[in-house]
Amino acid sequence: MKKTILIASMLLGFVSAVSAQTMSSSPALYQAFGEKAGLVKLMDDFVPRLQADPRLAEAFKKANVDNLKSQLVNQICQVSGGPCEYKGPDMKVAHSNMDITKTDFNALVEVLQKSMDAQGIAFSSQNQLLAKLAPMHRDVITVK
Ligand code: HEM
Repeated sequence: MKKTILIASMLLGFVSAVSAQTMSSSPALYQAFGEKAGLVKLMDDFVPRLQADPRLAEAFKKANVDNLKSQLVNQICQVSGGPCEYKGPDMKVAHSNMDITKTDFNALVEVLQKSMDAQGIAFSSQNQLLAKLAPMHRDVITVK
């Protein structure tokens, strides 16, 4: 729990003017996640966890699960340096009118960490991915 709070606050304090989607990456991180097949497995685990989490269930109960999984696979593939292009809406548009708070964001990060742990992703790789997702908090959190 302490580890999660520390990482979540580090994420929210992450200062970067560069969007995570435009950051360049070597494919090493993509490989550490088991490439496309590993990301599909991770999202197959992560999305049901979101829907089962009492803090997030309401937000995700009507989600189009197949679309969400495949968009996340492509997005994480791209930000981790893989050969994919995320073609979905930008994070601001995708999360507009959802009233997402910092607490919601931190809860999602915590669930993602649990899912990465369950998939046996190395801690350093987990942190590298989280550092790339962190700047998105500016577009995802709509309730300040
Ligand atoms: C770094 C954090 C996040 C990332 C990278 C992310 C990424 C995405 C992506 C790629 C989509 C699919 C967009 C589309 O195809 O329309 C999406 C949709 C969505 N996200 Fe997020 N998201 C993040 C945080 C959150 C948080 C904190 C919440 C709420 C607690 C949230 C709730 C949703 C919901 C409800 C949808 C729509 C699902 C559907 O109706 O199919 N997201 N997100």
